[in-house]
Amino acid sequence: MNTPPTGLYAHLPWCVRKCPYCDFNSHPLRTALPETGYVNALLADLARDQERFGRRAFDTVYFGGGTPSLFSPSALGTVIAATGGAGEVTMEANPGAVEHGDFPAYRRAGVTRISIGAQSFEPSQLARLGRIHDPADTRRVVGDVAGAGFDSFNIDLIHGLPGQSEAAALADLECAIGLAPPHISWYQLTIEPKTEFARRPPKGLPSGDKAAAIEEAGVALLADHGYHRYEVSAYARDGHQCAHNVNYWRFGDYFGIGAGAHGKITSKEGVVRTTKPRQPRLYLAGNFGEAVDVPRGELPAEFLMNALRLTDGVEETLFTARTGASLRTIADVWEELAGWGLLRRDRLALTPKGYRQLDGVVARFL
Ligand SMILES: C[S@@+](CC[C@H](N)C(=O)[O-])C[C@H]1O[C@@H](n2cnc3c(N)ncnc32)[C@H](O)[C@@H]1O
Ligand code: SF4
Repeated sequence: MNTPPTGLYAHLPWCVRKCPYCDFNSHPLRTALPETGYVNALLADLARDQERFGRRAFDTVYFGGGTPSLFSPSALGTVIAATGGAGEVTMEANPGAVEHGDFPAYRRAGVTRISIGAQSFEPSQLARLGRIHDPADTRRVVGDVAGAGFDSFNIDLIHGLPGQSEAAALADLECAIGLAPPHISWYQLTIEPKTEFARRPPKGLPSGDKAAAIEEAGVALLADHGYHRYEVSAYARDGHQCAHNVNYWRFGDYFGIGAGAHGKITSKEGVVRTTKPRQPRLYLAGNFGEAVDVPRGELPAEFLMNALRLTDGVEETLFTARTGASLRTIADVWEELAGWGLLRRDRLALTPKGYRQLDGVVARFL
């Protein structure tokens, strides 16, 4: 197996408050942010992974959370400097937690792309989602980000919200489009186990048919404005796809540093996964977790689970390059599903009909 492109994911696990729908490894900040201690832990974790995997440089860097915008530009700059920099360096920002809202300073520190968690532009929905910001905060942050000269940035929105009509979901999209971000992530609300929404399910969630109708209308609206869907929830203007996430879907490699971060690294011996402890307390104490080998037989299904999320899929040669397996291992099932009009025969990709049944198609390869 060749060495794939390598991304670096850095997880920053604190938030001002926990949102009721969120199952990310995020912890409400009860005391002062242990910024210096955490940055030092990230640097030690990174150095250990660089050493044991013999790889130092990264194609992309992504600061996710939690709420990375709670960290100062100089804190992120210290981590970016230790990576040697990368073509794309993304930072997630919560519009209600930009105490350091000095976006020119993040840019000078090496960040090239900001991802803004807007979620909705309707005040009542933001309140129901437990958000700490209002639509005016989002608009201000977008203005600051664009004004700081970031030519790539993203707005996150969630649809399928409690009691939300199709018109309201599309109105949210129009608000986002009006702010002219080069990228929009448009997620459907999922009720994740062990979240507040799972314990107390909100009323008025859309049926499967209604959610599908909202999605179809949203895809068309976004396309009309030049935002092309390239993954289930990701829409971009030309040249603005998120390279870091595309590398996940192309089954590339990534280091994962920070509390609860996952990594995947390919070597001559095979693929290993790394997992860091989820509890910030353990991580701050210098516990950087374990690496485990992925059984080779699991790689083809994992590869397809990722690659088929891309609307245009991937080239056939990538399968063997990433998994070490022959295409023959999946040929029978592929042929059967292609016969049903669900999969393409010219590349590893779904047809539009197959894309509407993504989960069912992927399940056939498990
Ligand atoms: C780590 S958060 C982004 C940064 C920051 N923490 C924030 O929320 O503003 C990643 C994104 O995932 C989406 N998300 C999180 N939980 C979700 C859920 N249960 N259903 C749908 N989207 C979700 C939200 O759009 C969120 O902005
Ligand atoms: S701010 Fe973001 S990461 Fe934090 S709890 Fe809310 S959705 Fe999750």
